[in-house]
Amino acid sequence: MNSQTSKTVQDLSKVLSEEYFLLLKTLNFHWNVEGPLFHSLHTLFETHYRGLLEKVDDIAETIRAYDAKAPGSFREYSKTSLIDEAPAEEISAIEMVEVLNKDHLAIAARIKEHHEDAEAAGDIHAVTLYEDLITFHEKAAWMIRSHLPKEMGSSKQRKESKESSMRPSQMS
Ligand SMILES: [Fe+2]
Repeated sequence: MNSQTSKTVQDLSKVLSEEYFLLLKTLNFHWNVEGPLFHSLHTLFETHYRGLLEKVDDIAETIRAYDAKAPGSFREYSKTSLIDEAPAEEISAIEMVEVLNKDHLAIAARIKEHHEDAEAAGDIHAVTLYEDLITFHEKAAWMIRSHLPKEMGSSKQRKESKESSMRPSQMS
């Protein structure tokens, strides 16, 4: 494995750890959400944790395709994930929405940096996977923050998401 590909494997392993932390947090919120948004968020979080499980598997198998071992323990994941675990204390449905919106956008932003490096290294499997992940996270963030009342869906959140979106019309 050349040094550029080993950097790609390192980046993929980091992304895997973050996706796994987000998977567990999304499950936690699926189980514990309460209030008027219960049905909608319980269902949406289920769609997302199922999607995240597929992504986790795709990332791990891409790492294997580069002939490296896929990390699969919280011991390893907790060293590299920048995604925080769910808080121990109870939080509201709106706080869950804010936390997950932020996490999905943060992961998408970090993956964009890895995408550039993988592209420069010619690591096509990783490039394709990253594009799929960016689309998944940005769409998930939009679906989640659409639950915020208008006055809470702050212009800052909307602006961040707009800046981080890869819209076909802006990709010419
Ligand atoms: Fe369930």
